[in-house]
Amino acid sequence: LNPFLGRMAPVSDNNALADRRRSIEKELSNSRRSSKVLGVPNEGSRRNSAVRSRCGSICEDISYLGSERRSIRRKKIAFVGCGQLGASAALLASMGRLAEDLVLFDIAEGMAKGKALDLGHLAALQGVDCDFKGTSNFADIVHADVVIITASVPIKDGMTREDMLLANANIMRSVGTAIKTYCPSAFVICITNPLDAMVRLLREVSGLPAARVVGMAGVLDSVRFKWLLAQRLNVSVRDVQAVVLGAHGDAMVPLTRYSNVCGVPLADLIKSGLISAEEVDALMERSVRFAYEILSLMKTATPFYAPAGAAISMAEAFLRDEKRVLPCS
Ligand code: NAD
Ligand code: LAC
Repeated sequence: LNPFLGRMAPVSDNNALADRRRSIEKELSNSRRSSKVLGVPNEGSRRNSAVRSRCGSICEDISYLGSERRSIRRKKIAFVGCGQLGASAALLASMGRLAEDLVLFDIAEGMAKGKALDLGHLAALQGVDCDFKGTSNFADIVHADVVIITASVPIKDGMTREDMLLANANIMRSVGTAIKTYCPSAFVICITNPLDAMVRLLREVSGLPAARVVGMAGVLDSVRFKWLLAQRLNVSVRDVQAVVLGAHGDAMVPLTRYSNVCGVPLADLIKSGLISAEEVDALMERSVRFAYEILSLMKTATPFYAPAGAAISMAEAFLRDEKRVLPCS
C-alpha cells in the first residue's frame, strides 16, 4: 500500500520493495520542506518518523504476504458433466469452501458457462471467495486436485443403469484420457452409471492407481437405508449407522449386522420386537430400488441432490485428509 497515494501497488519482488521504501524515504525527507505530505499533514519529524515506520512495516507485511501467497497453492475441483448432479455437487463444494477454483466441464458449453456464472453469483451472495469456470475444453481441468465425473447420456423412465453402458463407456474413454493428460495426480470420483463398470474403465484408460479412482455409490446407498431405518424407528438420523455394500445396482446388499441405532445392532432391535425381520427386509428392498422409485416420479431425472452430497463428502474427506471410512466402489 503506498500511504501517499492510498492504493495497492504491485510488489513483484523484494528489490522493488527496497526501491519503494527508498522513494518513500525521499518523499519523507522532501516533506520536511513542503507544507504537506500528500494525504499526510506535516506535523514535524516525530510524525514523519511514525509514518516512515508504518510504511516500513506495511511494506514488510506486503513482502511477507507476497512470498507466503506464492507458497499457498489454490485447491481445484473439476466437475466433468455439470447437469443436475454435477452442478449440485459444484454448489455444495463452493458452499463447503472445499476449493478456490471450480471448473464446470460439459459438452453443452453454454450451459457450463451459464451455470458457472450463476454459481459464482451465489458464492458472492454467501461471501465465499472462489472462482468458477465453465468450459468444454478438457485443458481447463489441468492440475485439478479432485475430478468428479457425472458426464452421461440422459436416462428416461423405464431405462436401467445398465442401458447406458455402451454410450457412457465411450464418454468415460474420453474423460479418462483427459485425466491422464491434464491431471494424472487427481483423486477421481466417478458417479456416472452403470457405476462399477465405469469406474473399472476409468482406471484402465486413465492409468491412475486404483486407490485414486473410486466410485460414489456406497455412501448414497447407505444413507438411503439409514434414512428408512430412522423414519421407521422414529429416531434421529444422527443416531443410526447403516452400511450397504456391493455393486451399485440390484446386487447391492444392506448389511443389517453392520447397521445399528446408537450402537444397538439391528439384530438386537429385531429380537426386542422394536422392528420385525420382515419389515427390515422390506426396507432393504425399497432402499435397493430407490433410484427407480424416484425416476418413476420425476420421469426424466434420477436423484441428484443426495448423490451430489455423497460425492462431496468423499471429496471433502480427501481434500481435508479426514481419515473417513466410507463405502466406495
Ligand atoms: P444429467 O443428464 O442431468 O447430466 C449429465 C450431463 O453430462 C449433461 O449435462 C450432459 O451434457 C453431460 N455430458 C454428456 N456427454 C458428455 C461428455 N462427453 N463430456 C462431458 N459432459 C457430457 O444427469 P445427472 O442427473 O447429472 O446424472 C449423471 C450421471 O450420474 C448419470 O449417469 C446417472 O445415472 C448417474 N447417477 C449415479 C448415481 C450413483 O449413485 N452413482 C446417483 C445418481 C445419478
Ligand atoms: C441412483 C441411481 C441413479 O442410485 O444410480 O440414484
